[in-house]
Amino acid sequence: MSALFDSFSLKDVTLKNRIAVPPMCQYSSEDGFANQWHEANYASFARGGAGLVIVEATAVSPEGRITPNCLGIWKEEHTEGLANLAKRIKDQGAVAGIQIAHAGRKASANRPWEGDDHLPAEDPKAWQPIGPSAEAFGAHLSRTPEAMSKQDIERVKQDFVNGAKRALEAGFEWLELHFAHGYLAQSFFSKHANKRTDEYGGDAAGRGRFLLETLDAVREVWPQHLPLTIRFGVIEYDGDDEQTQAESIALIKQFKAQGADFVSVSIGFNTPDATIPWGPAFLAPVAERVRNEANIPVATAWGVDTPELANDTIEKGQLDIVMVGRMHLTNPHWTYFAAKTLAEDNPSWVMPAPYAHWLQRYAPSDER
Ligand SMILES: Cc1cc2nc3c(=O)[nH]c(=O)nc-3n(C[C@H](O)[C@H](O)[C@H](O)COP(=O)(O)O)c2cc1C
Repeated sequence: MSALFDSFSLKDVTLKNRIAVPPMCQYSSEDGFANQWHEANYASFARGGAGLVIVEATAVSPEGRITPNCLGIWKEEHTEGLANLAKRIKDQGAVAGIQIAHAGRKASANRPWEGDDHLPAEDPKAWQPIGPSAEAFGAHLSRTPEAMSKQDIERVKQDFVNGAKRALEAGFEWLELHFAHGYLAQSFFSKHANKRTDEYGGDAAGRGRFLLETLDAVREVWPQHLPLTIRFGVIEYDGDDEQTQAESIALIKQFKAQGADFVSVSIGFNTPDATIPWGPAFLAPVAERVRNEANIPVATAWGVDTPELANDTIEKGQLDIVMVGRMHLTNPHWTYFAAKTLAEDNPSWVMPAPYAHWLQRYAPSDER
């Protein structure tokens, strides 16, 4: 059997293979509620055979949404719809994960297909974004956030705690804190975004404080027997990469000491002036370094697009899990396709018989 199809256990949770669908926002919600679109979307990934399906960035407060159409977990009423998603994912044989998030200074934006820029301040759907400092991201996200007070910091930490409790109540078994992609937590760690002079800014210890305190607070309410994971941008590609990686790895060691079980290694996206070396599995060596130096299991996404490449990253010990995003939008049965491509003895175990029986009659290339 290929390494990609080994099971993977973390705490009390076992994934049937090493393939995960990373969080991918659908921007298709009204007032934060999950609906039939979300149910169909997540059920299809699970039915296709991925071991883990992580529900998109789900906002811990209305102000923490990227767009007015983001999914939410800020009120009790959201729990029922999210529980439907968890149930559908589990019914189709995958582990149900969810990413909880606050968009920080990137909040109050249009959907990607509506411009991907900040809503004009006078738009009735817009709101005032907040951030560690009154520093705008720039480029298409030019609105200046309001610098957070200490009360704001306490409130947002509590929002994460309440979100984690609801995620548990909804039946999710894998919690991912969104500490990546230039959103609120990541921006606290960033020299580009965080110009604070109090204990939440300055050196790496100060810039990491909000993240560690949020993790601590969530760890209190998320059960020890379930994975508590973090998506974290460990590199910016802004010319200062060695220092950023060293500081990030030092922080990940603290995450681990304070109860984080797993890191999904990603990119900072804290500045529009980054030069990112896009290419097949280009982040895998960065993730491998995190895995080795912080001694914590890791995943990464970004261009792990072929079954061979995905298998390779697991076999070489670079990653523990691969995150396959856009290929799952192309083909929700990507995992089944990978099993056939890698000549698994019996790929039908990956997918329910009503599909698998028929698909076995075709060559893998037919499904690309
Ligand atoms: C439509 C879409 C929505 C996304 N939404 C999120 C999100 O909610 N949270 C997150 O951490 N990353 C998000 N991402 C990034 C993906 O999780 C993933 O890192 C990215 O697509 C690269 O992996 P890939 O090359 O396999 O697609 C999104 C990507 C896409 C394409």
